[in-house]
Amino acid sequence: MSVNTLNGERKLKTIGIIGAGQLGLMLTEAVHGAGARTVVLDPDPQAPAGRAADERIVAAYDDAAALEELCRRSDAVTYEFENVPGSVLIPLAERYCIPQGFRPLYDSQDRLREKDNARSHGLRTPAYAAVDDEASLRSAVARIGLPSVLKTRTLGYDGHGQAVLRTEADIEKALPMLAVPCILEEFVRFDYEASVVLVSDGRRTIHFPIGRNVHRDGILDLCAVPAEGMDAALGARMAAESRRFMEACGYRGILAIEYFVRGDEFYFNEMAPRPHNSGHYTIEGCTTDQYRELAHYLLGMPLEEPRLVAPTVMKNILGQDLAAAEAVAAEAREGVFVHLYGKSQSRPKRKMGHITFVGMTAPEYEAAWADRFVK
Ligand SMILES: Nc1ncnc2c1ncn2[C@@H]1O[C@H](COP(=O)(O)OP(=O)(O)OP(=O)(O)O)[C@@H](O)[C@H]1O
Ligand SMILES: [Mg+2]
Repeated sequence: MSVNTLNGERKLKTIGIIGAGQLGLMLTEAVHGAGARTVVLDPDPQAPAGRAADERIVAAYDDAAALEELCRRSDAVTYEFENVPGSVLIPLAERYCIPQGFRPLYDSQDRLREKDNARSHGLRTPAYAAVDDEASLRSAVARIGLPSVLKTRTLGYDGHGQAVLRTEADIEKALPMLAVPCILEEFVRFDYEASVVLVSDGRRTIHFPIGRNVHRDGILDLCAVPAEGMDAALGARMAAESRRFMEACGYRGILAIEYFVRGDEFYFNEMAPRPHNSGHYTIEGCTTDQYRELAHYLLGMPLEEPRLVAPTVMKNILGQDLAAAEAVAAEAREGVFVHLYGKSQSRPKRKMGHITFVGMTAPEYEAAWADRFVK
């Protein structure tokens, strides 16, 4: 995508990305596919998107001068993670093109604010209460009951900063968590988890087919689409309420929402205004993917409603499964797409890649593939 043509020379548009992890890597690939460039900012010089991007800035996420430099080099700027501080981003959003703005980050950076916001826009959430000290924890437990989940209000990811409270002993053990503000949530005995990714340009909102998610140790393990066991009416209601929520909040760009499903009801768990791990499957499983639609939004191109190509399963590859994933890649099987992020350090529980199985249902995956990976 070019801005202008001067003597045959084309000035390509540049998308700035705060963060250069795997989401930034896949967004970079989509931006390149649209004929534009990327510049990424990340404190880690080895970060996955750093090698793929056209330019990179190695700096901390709260380095105001570096973020301004990123904005200066970009036609539009986005972020691949939630914890960019408002103190830095708000002033920049006034002077540069950051089309998603700070609002969706602000609303998602604090679990209490996030749930208040979801509720005030009509989404059902699990019961919750703010907890700041032992007394407020005890009164929250008295109201919400056990088991329940204590979470830090900010900076949690992949299940970090969470404790399930089942007994009095668990409450005692969790007290040190109260050094920072927390939230206590009802433990939802869900039938399954689901998520939806949406992209809006303010005129049109599209959404990707809903995925059914399995987490292990608080980390996404599998995403299967269509969401098996979800009846069509529930799926349509979840999609419609998600679209209405995004539009009512006035968000632009990309938004992922995670839900707990129990019976014919669903509960908002959390949201993220960035591409989502559960949306990796869209790259091969849909006619257009979450990165491409975000890229198109950022480049001012029209959005396209996605369609599922075939039943698809996405398996996250953590450090402990990297060797198995490399073996699968070497087999070059039809419909099996192995993505490795090129991280130089592999650790158990670190996201190293993912595999997308197109033309496969969750039971077929369980029967034919699940045994290849660490249980
Ligand atoms: N209230 C709850 N009831 C039951 N299970 C829960 C609850 N809250 C969280 N969990 C379980 O823990 C997982 C991670 O929780 P959550 O999504 O809040 O955290 P996170 O660390 O922000 O995760 P991520 O950013 O990776 O999605 C959920 O997907 C779910 O499996
Ligand atoms: Mg989550």
